[in-house]
Amino acid sequence: MRTKVMLVWLCGVLVAYWISPVSPVTEASTATQPTTTECPKETLDGYDWPSISAGTNTSHSGCPGVTLGTVYRFCRSDATWEVADYTRCVSPTLASLNTQTGNLDGSPSGYLHLAEDLQNASKPAKLVVSGDLLTAVTIMYALVEDSFLVTCNATSAVVMNFTEAVLISARQLLDNSYSSLWTETHQVSDVDAIFTFLEKLDSFYGDVLSCFSLVNITEYSLVTENLDVAIEVFQANTSEAFIFPSNSNSDANQATVPVAVFTEADTSGHTAACIVWYKSASSLLPSTDINARSAHQDGQINSDVVSVTLHPTQVQPFNEPITLRFSHHQAGNNPVCALLDVSLTSSSVWSDSECETVSTTSDVTTCNCHHATNFALLTTLNDDDTVLKVPLNAIMVTGVVISLLFLVATFVLLLYVNRSLESDWALVVKCFLLTYIIGQITFLSGINSTENQMICRFVGILLHYLYLSVFFWMLAQAVLLQLKIVHASATSATISHYCLLGWVTPLLVVASAAGLKHDQYGHDKYCWISIWNKVIYAFIGPAAFVILVTFVVTYSSVHGYFSIKKTDQKGAAEMGKLKHAFRAPMITLPLLMITWTLKAFAIELRSEALYAIFALTYIIQGMVIFVFYGVLDNQVQTLYRSKFGHNHKAVHDSSGRAWNDKVETNKTSPNNFRASSMTSFSSRASESFATNRNDSTASLSSSTARRLNFQKKTLVIPLKRPVPSPTPSQTQGTST
Ligand SMILES: *[C@@H]1O[C@H](CO)[C@@H](O)[C@H](O)[C@H]1NC(C)=O
Ligand SMILES: *[C@@H]1O[C@H](CO)[C@@H](O)[C@H](O)[C@H]1NC(C)=O
Ligand SMILES: *[C@@H]1O[C@H](CO)[C@@H](O)[C@H](O)[C@H]1NC(C)=O
Ligand SMILES: *[C@@H]1O[C@H](CO)[C@@H](O)[C@H](O)[C@H]1NC(C)=O
Ligand SMILES: *[C@@H]1O[C@H](CO)[C@@H](O)[C@H](O)[C@H]1NC(C)=O
Repeated sequence: MRTKVMLVWLCGVLVAYWISPVSPVTEASTATQPTTTECPKETLDGYDWPSISAGTNTSHSGCPGVTLGTVYRFCRSDATWEVADYTRCVSPTLASLNTQTGNLDGSPSGYLHLAEDLQNASKPAKLVVSGDLLTAVTIMYALVEDSFLVTCNATSAVVMNFTEAVLISARQLLDNSYSSLWTETHQVSDVDAIFTFLEKLDSFYGDVLSCFSLVNITEYSLVTENLDVAIEVFQANTSEAFIFPSNSNSDANQATVPVAVFTEADTSGHTAACIVWYKSASSLLPSTDINARSAHQDGQINSDVVSVTLHPTQVQPFNEPITLRFSHHQAGNNPVCALLDVSLTSSSVWSDSECETVSTTSDVTTCNCHHATNFALLTTLNDDDTVLKVPLNAIMVTGVVISLLFLVATFVLLLYVNRSLESDWALVVKCFLLTYIIGQITFLSGINSTENQMICRFVGILLHYLYLSVFFWMLAQAVLLQLKIVHASATSATISHYCLLGWVTPLLVVASAAGLKHDQYGHDKYCWISIWNKVIYAFIGPAAFVILVTFVVTYSSVHGYFSIKKTDQKGAAEMGKLKHAFRAPMITLPLLMITWTLKAFAIELRSEALYAIFALTYIIQGMVIFVFYGVLDNQVQTLYRSKFGHNHKAVHDSSGRAWNDKVETNKTSPNNFRASSMTSFSSRASESFATNRNDSTASLSSSTARRLNFQKKTLVIPLKRPVPSPTPSQTQGTST
């Protein structure tokens, strides 16, 4: 029998490997196919791109239109084409302007002329490729970094004209018509390009403010279609806040800088502030990578972006807040004002913990912020899809928690009942329950931990293992019933064999899947395998195999019993009791299948109806497990009857006695054993069995109760020989 167990286990491993598409066999065969390691030949925008292998570049020396340079194209490691890279193509005008940046010698007129040329060259539709945009941005950086504004040795007219030329260039570069160039730049060159651009402009505003207060320009404003700028140099002694736009409606954008932002010592006539509203920036910012920290993983920028600059720079956070009122672009939930924080990490982030929300309506949100930088309003969008973005919504959590409580109750019940005597069946069921409980707790606590990708992947792999292990423990139950009852081989398989099947086999499957495709675990929305990923078959495949085998084994066991029933009186009687053990996996397994299929689709499709059905099936599944593994368990029933039918000491006595009786009987003669079994199934016992709840208290003698317990014991601990087995020399030593 030991060999049989090993055989079943080996088959399980082999078939699980073979079924899984990430197994080394299939992996190797796909690797040899050229189509999956090379990007296919294709024609795009008039360029013929030849087939090249994954992870390499190819190029064309001709750039579009008047631009000069080289077009590159990158074949990603998954053998798909990146968009064509035009960042090395530059128009001659911009290329020559770019060389002129080397001539900037600190003279204001040099800066002014270059700024005016840039303004001319960056007019809408003048930039044709992303290389033009990058070059224009580079020229802009040369103009604004350490410009003559820092020393400010110039006339106010030059300062004014230069500032305006730079601002108009910026407004043009941020024009919506260039959004495709920004997108391409973010894709192929610099994911943070526009964040860097906003950051450089902020430092430029600081220089402008310091210079304006020196050359006595007291205020300035520029209103364009996508960029509104206002600068105010505070007059000494003023108490009026700087408000921009000052005459806007109550549901429109407005920023307010109170004089009190400046500390007492600074109010000397040289304090100034600049407010800039970027009306197009939110559509240019990389939408797929908002990089929001904390609560707004799924946050979307839902307002214009505003930049506030103070001169002199104040120690942040300052006490008196600046007030920002954001008009919502569209309906959204959970509005928070977030500031663009480029200092904390290498990539830019929206930090939503620095501002206080003062008031919010469906159209407008007002915040107080104690910093001066770029701000925007983040919200989660209001459509059905985003309400359910997080897979763990309330319905689902309720369902899972209730089913978890049932599992824990079953586990505790079995632990209590089996505390004096442990059968293999009870051990296997407890391992099954324990694995499932740990799996559910991992699911509840880990599925949403998407913030850290490593943790997220680990959770995904752990869930894969635990859930697969649950199925293998179901198989272990079926194998146990088959071996111990049908083949009456009580001693051949020890609990360690079942542990091998239930815990080690799924470990091998998951280890190979995770080793090969670890990047497919953990999703940006949840930490499980996407149903669209190939690695899901490493779950579905082995699970389906286990389900099949479990059904076959269980069916053959039941069938075996029915044939016994026809011929053997004793077998017929025991059949009724064995149904308990068979029933549990037979009913639980389809439920597990249904629940987990629903779960995969509910998580992926985020349908509220599916969530509700899923929660319901989970609760039903928990109840079914509680009833069939817990309440209907023979030892539980025995305990129940003895508690309410007799003094409960009889349980331990009788169960212990039953063992001993049996061991002795069996040792002496198998025929004796059968005879005593027959007696225990006498009609008297059967009747009291059926009606025990009513009359047992009064009528059952302790010996009857003992026999009753003995009967049940033989059910659960499969020591009895239902078939006139030709192996009389079995021993009972498996359970402890
Ligand atoms: C591909 O070309 C780009 C320039 O367009 C270069 O920066 C990158 O390193 C190249 N990558 C590979 C893998 O050759
Ligand atoms: C702007 O460009 C036009 C041609 O596109 C040119 O005629 C004009 O002189 C330029 N102005 C400046 C200030 O460079
Ligand atoms: C300011 O510029 C003028 C010429 O434009 C120059 O003569 C003078 O020395 C400069 N002053 C400073 C402080 O740089
Ligand atoms: C500044 O610009 C105005 C018109 O835009 C022009 O009349 C003036 O001459 C310019 N001043 C300088 C110093 O360039
Ligand atoms: C501040 O303003 C008050 C009147 O509002 C005036 O009496 C006082 O002299 C001013 N102080 C300075 C330093 O300008």
